[in-house]
Amino acid sequence: MTAPAKPEEFVRWLRQTAPYLHAFGGRTFVIGFGGELITERARFAQFIQDVNLLAALDIRLVLVHGARPQIEAELKAKGLRSRYAKGLRITDAAALVAVKHAAGALRVDIEALLSQGLPSSPMAGAEIRVASGNYIAAQPIGVVEGVDYQFTGLVRKVDATGIARRLQAGEVVLVPHLGYSPTGEVFNLSWEDVAQSVAAALGADKLLLFVDRLPADRKGAVIGELTAREAKALLKKADLGAHAAGALRHALAALAAGVGRAHLISRRTPGAALLELFTHSGVGTMITAEPMQRLREARIEDVGSILGLIEPLEADGTLVKRGRERLEREIANFVVLEHDGALLGCAALYPLPEKSAELACLAVAPDARDAGHGERLLQACEARAKGMKIRKLFALTTRAEHWFLTQGFKAASPAALPGERQALYNWKRGSKVFLKRT
Ligand SMILES: CC(C)(COP(=O)(O)OP(=O)(O)OC[C@H]1O[C@@H](n2cnc3c(N)ncnc32)[C@H](O)[C@@H]1OP(=O)(O)O)[C@@H](O)C(=O)NCCC(=O)NCCS
Repeated sequence: MTAPAKPEEFVRWLRQTAPYLHAFGGRTFVIGFGGELITERARFAQFIQDVNLLAALDIRLVLVHGARPQIEAELKAKGLRSRYAKGLRITDAAALVAVKHAAGALRVDIEALLSQGLPSSPMAGAEIRVASGNYIAAQPIGVVEGVDYQFTGLVRKVDATGIARRLQAGEVVLVPHLGYSPTGEVFNLSWEDVAQSVAAALGADKLLLFVDRLPADRKGAVIGELTAREAKALLKKADLGAHAAGALRHALAALAAGVGRAHLISRRTPGAALLELFTHSGVGTMITAEPMQRLREARIEDVGSILGLIEPLEADGTLVKRGRERLEREIANFVVLEHDGALLGCAALYPLPEKSAELACLAVAPDARDAGHGERLLQACEARAKGMKIRKLFALTTRAEHWFLTQGFKAASPAALPGERQALYNWKRGSKVFLKRT
């Protein structure tokens, strides 16, 4: 591994991953991807290295794969035509042969990649055991609107106990796009259907689906987060393209069945799975049953996380130092912004005499800035102040004067502070005083 330019940056970055490592250990993630990802050899090899990393972090992994381009290629080589109806392959006897060949070859390829372990490679010491088997019971789609889909099927049942046993044994489970019926037949399934069904049956913590195109807003920017309600509204009003819309529907079905979170990630972004999982903002679209962000009153259990936010700012002189004890005593003055269990920001309101109050300790995590969080925290403090019939809101700052000006504060002199607070004013620090009438 190449060392980062600055050791302190590397250490800071590594420390930031700690909450994710705590949160993910022992959790079950189902990752679904189409055969397209496998055809891009270099990118797929990197993805397998990412799988290795996730497995090393004690995440229980199920990989579900498809094989559309591989089936297509075999049919073409034999001079046969692929037939589709409503976007679904009609799997006739000849296509079924190609389906079995593709699934068999891909299984061997994926197992081979997961078996790597050369020293001085990212897979060194990996020793991943892969389990694959007849975990999926399938049924034929049958004849729909006069079209017989033949060997194209639907998931009927997932052997969740069988998969969970393998995961418990520390193995990575590989589930192909195939299902078996009690009559001994094989059916070709959509990998998205399999991934959704497996995640639902396992009660997985996360379902990650690799897609061609991510849901985007009108300006073309990727939508980073959606609640289930928002995702449903988006499906109704926007044309996301058949693939993204289909993936979103599978994600919603998984959430409705109790899966914790669903993520759509682009198969074209290198390292997409790691970026999505280990950064606040992610690179894909995360879909949750409930809103992810919560602005709430701070609790005593938040003290550690608040300290984590403000200590670097205290160290560089941006904020006045508060010890853990003081923070514990004053925790009732704080509001925090929580995102998916992690604290993104905090602010405190200290009532002062003369119907005034001081807004203090406003901080937003560096990688979450410029997203309006600071403004939301300020608004929460203003609402609190209003409820307390406070007329004047003060803020003292050495670094963020322009931010307060854009938020409607006006520069004031320390003499404007109520007497009691004026006596505590630190002339050496020389903070600028700002005032906003509420
Ligand atoms: C000040 C702070 C809380 C703002 O949080 P935030 O979530 O990034 O703020 P918002 O997203 O609501 O506002 C972002 C806007 O303010 C601007 N801004 C952010 N910090 C600024 C600063 N110190 N000075 C001037 N402008 C600033 C951004 O450029 C952005 O402008 P834009 O909308 O034109 O792009 C955050 O930068 C922070 O934690 N700073 C360190 C602690 C601090 O200084 N606290 C204030 C003392 S109590």
